[in-house]
Amino acid sequence: MIHRIKGTQDLLPGEIEKWQYLEQKARDIFARYGYMEIRTPIFEETELFVRSIGQETDIVQKEMYTFADKSKKSLTLRPEGTAPVVRACIENNLLAGSGTLKLFYMGPMFRYERPQKGRYRQFYQIGAEVLGPDNPLIDVEVMEMLVRFLEELEIHPYQLHINSIGCPGCRPKYLKVLRAEITHALPQLCADCNRRASTNPLRVLDCKVETDQAHINALPASLDYLCEDCRTHFAVVQRFLNNRDIHYSVNSRLVRGLDYYEKTTFEITSDLLGAQNALLGGGRYNGLSESLGGPAISGFGFALGEERFILALPKEDYFWMRPEVYLAPLGPACFDFAVTLASQLRRNEIRAFLEFGDKSLKSQLRHADKLRIPFALIFGTEELHRKEIQCKNMRDGTQVTIRAEVSEIIRAIRGDTAR
Ligand code: HAM
Repeated sequence: MIHRIKGTQDLLPGEIEKWQYLEQKARDIFARYGYMEIRTPIFEETELFVRSIGQETDIVQKEMYTFADKSKKSLTLRPEGTAPVVRACIENNLLAGSGTLKLFYMGPMFRYERPQKGRYRQFYQIGAEVLGPDNPLIDVEVMEMLVRFLEELEIHPYQLHINSIGCPGCRPKYLKVLRAEITHALPQLCADCNRRASTNPLRVLDCKVETDQAHINALPASLDYLCEDCRTHFAVVQRFLNNRDIHYSVNSRLVRGLDYYEKTTFEITSDLLGAQNALLGGGRYNGLSESLGGPAISGFGFALGEERFILALPKEDYFWMRPEVYLAPLGPACFDFAVTLASQLRRNEIRAFLEFGDKSLKSQLRHADKLRIPFALIFGTEELHRKEIQCKNMRDGTQVTIRAEVSEIIRAIRGDTAR
């Protein structure tokens, strides 16, 4: 027996419908806001992630699935989608003179993390990137879209956290002060903080160790060191969030785990999740395109974890893509009719399931029930002789005799007439 790899999941019928629902809803909302889909390869040159996410980040240091292919080239299974999307835009010349570009993607990402509830080694992200001007209204529009998305999915409560971590102009000054303050606190801080103090001091702010919290809360905040441009940008973001009645809290410790961010960073968390409470995260990355050899174009985007959204969805029936009707022929003599009827129903856009085995009625109905199919059509030779069929409502157990015609069947299961 060969088992699946630790930190991965098989998504089975019964569960997968939630994923389809989530992805369809995402496609709907992206279309309304003018995004188009992009699909990039699952693996890329390792250098792409090292240069964009940052050499000193946890992702690059500890979490990447990196391997040499047969030509000894170093490849990495993508741990995130932003760098590949920007790489693809540069390579395919999508950024040249074409105004704002809005792209979305969905698919598996890979990180060698310690698996736990809501945290996997292969996980799925749905993300979007806006490449264009450095305009704070883009930041607000993305957040507004996400709030609308959560409302439409009926996921609540959730909290929107925002911060600004400055730009390459003002951040060095802040980092100098932060480093000095961290150095004072080092003896009281955990081993990870001690390591990060010199390599990536911003990440010290992200430490979750209980005993470190009081010391970290006392550290200086990037918001107090922003240059004029970053301060104005952040003020506009807040003003327009307020105008649109979008509730948020400013969290000066929200630094994110990828180095490409500048100015706005944001996350949406939910108490519906466990320790891994981030439903999604994102921010602005104005220098990324240039650092990958592309034009000087700004970017803003986010990615959400599908596994976490699935955990947070209301506990409803998500069997919406399932067959609507189960055809239960009573014996091989009825198969000819069953095959023709199934074909006619499908041509009328009815999702029909036909059992091919010669099964008893009892076992067919048990099967329909297991598949959560709402109606079963039951017919033996006697019924067909009378041009009749039994239509059983599997939810309430009621059964009616109807004419063995497509229009009648559609009326019975959909409550409307045939199209
Ligand atoms: P991230 O915060 O690393 O950002 O990931 C975004 C989301 O992916 C997280 O909030 C979480 O829901 C989900 N996620 C991350 N790691 C795991 C995991 N191991 N298991 C399950 N879910 C996970 C990014 O990836 C950026 N590329 C987002 C972005 C797009 N920023 C700008 N544009």
